[in-house]
Amino acid sequence: MKKVISFAMLLICMTWGSQQIISQNHNIQVEVKKVGSPIQKTMYGIFFEDINFGADGGIYGELVKNRSFEFDNHLVGWLPFGKVSVLNENPCFAKNPNYIQLSYTKEVTGTGIENEGFKGIGVTKKESYKLSVYSRCHNANPIELKVELISSNNDPIATTKIILNGEDWKKYSVDLSPKSTDVHASLRLTMITPGIVDMDHISLFPAKTFKMRENGMREDLAQALSDLKPGIFRFPGGCIVEGTNLATRYQWKNTVGPVENRPTNINRWNYTFPHKKFSDYYQSYGLGFFEYFQLCEDIGAEALPVLSCGLSCQFENHDPKENCPVDSLQPYIQDALDLIEFANGPATSTWGKVRADMGHPAPFNMKFLAVGNEQWGSLYPERLEPFLKAIRKQYPTIKVIGSAGPSPDGKDFNFGWSEMKRLKTDLVDEHYYKNPEWFLSNANRYDNYDRKGPKVFAGEYACHPASKKNDFEGALSEAAFMTGFERNADVVQMCTYAPLFAHVDAWQWRPDLIWFDNLHSVKTPNYYVQQLYSTHAGTHVLTTTENKAPLEGNNGLYATSALDNVKNEIILKIANTSSETRKVTYTFNGLKAASRKGSHTIFSSENKDTENTLEKPNGVIPYEKEINLTGNTFEVELTPQSFNLYTIKL
Ligand code: AHR
Repeated sequence: MKKVISFAMLLICMTWGSQQIISQNHNIQVEVKKVGSPIQKTMYGIFFEDINFGADGGIYGELVKNRSFEFDNHLVGWLPFGKVSVLNENPCFAKNPNYIQLSYTKEVTGTGIENEGFKGIGVTKKESYKLSVYSRCHNANPIELKVELISSNNDPIATTKIILNGEDWKKYSVDLSPKSTDVHASLRLTMITPGIVDMDHISLFPAKTFKMRENGMREDLAQALSDLKPGIFRFPGGCIVEGTNLATRYQWKNTVGPVENRPTNINRWNYTFPHKKFSDYYQSYGLGFFEYFQLCEDIGAEALPVLSCGLSCQFENHDPKENCPVDSLQPYIQDALDLIEFANGPATSTWGKVRADMGHPAPFNMKFLAVGNEQWGSLYPERLEPFLKAIRKQYPTIKVIGSAGPSPDGKDFNFGWSEMKRLKTDLVDEHYYKNPEWFLSNANRYDNYDRKGPKVFAGEYACHPASKKNDFEGALSEAAFMTGFERNADVVQMCTYAPLFAHVDAWQWRPDLIWFDNLHSVKTPNYYVQQLYSTHAGTHVLTTTENKAPLEGNNGLYATSALDNVKNEIILKIANTSSETRKVTYTFNGLKAASRKGSHTIFSSENKDTENTLEKPNGVIPYEKEINLTGNTFEVELTPQSFNLYTIKL
C-alpha cells in the first residue's frame, strides 16, 4: 500500500501570459531498484571554439592585440606616432619575424605606439599587470621608454618606465597598477630618450590568472567553465579546425613551444559573414594545445582535441585542390599520431619532450580524439579510414570520434552515420542548431537509436529562438530536450552546447553560453541549464514513465531520473513547458517508505524572453530550497514554464 508523503513546496506563481490553471494529475513511476545504464562521467561537457573572440580577447589572458606584428596588416590594433616602421631583418623570433623600429631623432620627436587591446583593454583598480617586451637598441646609450595605461578618457592611469640597452634582443618586464578601473583602456609606449630601438612581442598580462598559470587564462571566464564541472572539453573548434583552405587550417604543432615563436594564423571568423567582418580577428596561438590540455586538467575535464582530416571547410571551399588527396594524407595522419605522443608519451619521446619542456613532464592521459569537424559526403570517410587504421594500430585505446556532418537528419547525415558504423568509430559527433519547436518535438530522438553501433557525441547543439538570443525559452527547450540525453545514456555519452563564449563587442554568432566584456561576464539561462545537468548528472539512469512510456512532452512535461550511487541520492529532472501548473505524483517503486531529506531547484521565468545581461545578470537564475518527504510517493506542483530538479537522499 502506498503511503502518502507530506511535502511542503513553495509554489512560485508565474505564467507566460495566460492564467495559472492546475490541470489533471500526472502519475510518474520511477524504478528505483532496477538500476539502468551507467551515465558516463564525460556526459556533460564544454565545447571551446575560437569564435566570437573566445580565445584572443576572451579567455586567454593576453591584453595586447597583434603583439607580434604578424597580422596581414602588421599594425592592426596599434596606433603609431612619430617614426615607426615594421621590419623583419634579423628578427628575434624566426616564426614571427616582423617587429617594429621606433626612431626618435632631431627631426622626429615624440615617437611611440599605442595598443587598443581587444575592443579596449580591461584593467581593474590596484590590480597588477605585467608588461613585457623584447627589444634591442641601435645606439650606445640606454633608451628610456615610458609605459602607460591610458583610460578611455585619455588620462594616464598607470605610468612606469623601462630602460632599454644593448644591441642584442633581450626581454624586459615591468609591473603596472592602475589607479582606476577601465573596461576600455589602452597601452602606450613612448620613447623618452633619442635613439633607435626595435621591439617585438609586446605583451600585457594580468598578474592574476586562473590558478596563477604563466601565460594563463582570464580568471572569471575560466572559473565559469570550472563551475560547470565539465566531464569533457572539446577544442579548438569548430570551423577553424578545417580552415577556409588547407593553409589556414588549425595545425596544433604551431601552437606549442615558446609563445613568442608560435606563428600567427588568421581566424576564419574574421571574414565568414559578409555583414559581420572582423579584420582584426586572428589566432596568436598563445592559447595553444598545451594550454588547452592544462586547462582541462585544471577544471577536471577529459580533453577532446579535434584535428583536420585533410578537408578544407566544406561550406566555404569547393576547390578540389583545397582538399588533401587521400594518398597524400600521411603528414596529417602523422600530426594525429604525434599529438597522442605529445599528450601521452613519456618525457623522453620526441613530442613528450616538447610537453615536458613546457613544464608538464607527466602525461596528460588523453583518451579521445576527433578527426574532422563538420564533414559530409564520401570525401570524408575515405580520408577518415587511413587515420583510423593508423591510430588503431599504434594507440588502440584512444577513442576516435567521427562526424555526422552539420545537420541532424537528411541524406548526408544518414550516409555519414552508415559510414561511421562501417568504420566503427567509437563515437559520432552530431550537430544541431534548431528552433524551440524542434527541440521540444525531438526529446525522443535517441529512444530508437541502434544500441550496437557507435555511441553519440552531441558535439554542437543550441536552441535558436526567433530572437536568436539567449532567452529563457531556448534554455527551457534545451532542458526539456536534454531529458532525452539522460534517458538514453547508454547511447549518448557526451554532449556539449555551442558556441561557448561571445565578446559583447565582437561576436559573430549567437546564442552563446557565456557573454563577456573586457572585465565582466554573464551566465546565460542556457548556462544554468547546462550547469544543473552537469552538477546533477547522477551515475545511472532510473526508468521513469507515465502509463509505461517515457515523458516526452505529455501535456508539456519532459522527465528523467537518475541514481547517484556516490552521493547516495535520486535525482529527478522534470520540465514543464506548458503555461499551466502541472500536478505530478511520483511513485518510487522499490524504495522503502521513510523520512527523507532533499532539495528542489526551480528554474523559471514569467517571461519567455528573459535574458541575463551584463547589466542585469540575474534576469533568470535557479533557486534551491530544502525539502523533506516521507513514504515512497511524492506530490509536486510544477510552475508553468519551469525546469525542476529534485534530489532525494536515500
Ligand atoms: O559553433 C559555430 C559553428 O557551427 C562551428 O564552427 C561549426 O562546427 C558549426 O557549423
